[in-house]
Amino acid sequence: MKRILITGGAGFIGSHTADALLAKGFQVRVLDCLDQQIHGIERKRPAYLDPRVELFIGDVRLRGDVIRALDGIDAVYHFAAQTGVGQSMYDIHSYCDVNISGTAMLLDVLANTEHRVGKIILSSSRAVYGEGTYRCDACGIVFPPTRSREQLVNHCWEIGCPTCGKPLSPLPTDEEKPLSPISIYALTKQVQEDLVRTFSSTYRLPSVILRYFNVYGTRQAINNPYTGIGAIFANRALSGQDIHIYEDGKPGRDFVNVRDVVQANVCALENDRAENGTFNVGSGERLTVLDLATLITKKLKSRSKLEFNGQFRMGDIRDCYADLTKSREILGYRPTVTFAEGIEELIAWARGEVLEDRFMEAESALRTRNLM
Ligand SMILES: NC(=O)c1ccc[n+]([C@@H]2O[C@H](COP(=O)([O-])OP(=O)(O)OC[C@H]3O[C@@H](n4cnc5c(N)ncnc54)[C@H](O)[C@@H]3O)[C@@H](O)[C@H]2O)c1
Ligand SMILES: [Zn+2]
Repeated sequence: MKRILITGGAGFIGSHTADALLAKGFQVRVLDCLDQQIHGIERKRPAYLDPRVELFIGDVRLRGDVIRALDGIDAVYHFAAQTGVGQSMYDIHSYCDVNISGTAMLLDVLANTEHRVGKIILSSSRAVYGEGTYRCDACGIVFPPTRSREQLVNHCWEIGCPTCGKPLSPLPTDEEKPLSPISIYALTKQVQEDLVRTFSSTYRLPSVILRYFNVYGTRQAINNPYTGIGAIFANRALSGQDIHIYEDGKPGRDFVNVRDVVQANVCALENDRAENGTFNVGSGERLTVLDLATLITKKLKSRSKLEFNGQFRMGDIRDCYADLTKSREILGYRPTVTFAEGIEELIAWARGEVLEDRFMEAESALRTRNLM
């Protein structure tokens, strides 16, 4: 495996992955349409993209672009996607088109043209789980259904046991948890997984599916108000604007640094034992959204206030964090970046970025559709 294609490789996770692959002596090509929501109105080659990366500006939904991009390629990371959970609930066609049809086009070209691709690595998401795994003191391990709109309207944020109603405590979620996506984005990720798995077993072309948790770090589109909670909070904190905390700030998440995600991506390429497996990629630690907001504002000595007004978004889950047993044992993944260290890096980088204020636009898109 020498020449690697990264679809969506001009973005946050893809560009960091490109750096790691170049450092290991691989040649890297990127197919990316430089989507305006991520790359701004000018849609220029990002300055952070290593000059050795061969950038094909094109669309993963277009057969000709995919054929051209696959020429001479030994392995593919398929990252091109639209990634906003809230936005996916109204931009439905576009999310399905890019995420599902884009993946279908990649596989269709692989099925119908000569190529030498020996592995496909897919960036899936913890969103496919829906709610994470919980424990009820009386009933044991439970996989509760998502909360109803009525429950959220009444500000009952916590999830009760579906059998006995007792309060539940979150547990780490492993890869065997039954999937229960509750947003269009999550559904598209589940379909991507199924497409890749089915293709992979039919054509005996090895694949690795990685379920990333909440990834944060340098280069995350800081002016994209639709996704990337770390970047959104850093943007608000730097410009001194109030930070809106949804629900009671206690939703539990697994914030994983992009450098750790890159480590998992490289393991997926190099470690044959991971072939045809599905793996969680998180930090393995549960933190709350409030922990994230508090640390960012504190480190930036920001005058931003944390605003709690009981808002919620349809499509958000209460809790999910990663059980890393399988990824440690089979993928060989070992996250190393502490949250404090990772946030320090995020902040140092964010200080140097030119900020735009588009957050209210994203909230109002949800509010006018009664999704918030
Ligand atoms: N960032 C996270 O927290 C997270 C969590 C779970 C999964 N993921 C997945 O990881 C992958 C990468 O995410 P990211 O955070 O780097 O996002 P990103 O938005 O920074 O990168 C995605 C890239 O894909 C490109 N793209 C979008 N539509 C395209 C199309 N039709 N054709 C070609 N390129 C296109 C964009 O221009 C962008 O450069 C995505 O598949 C995402 O669903 C990310
Ligand atoms: Zn119970």
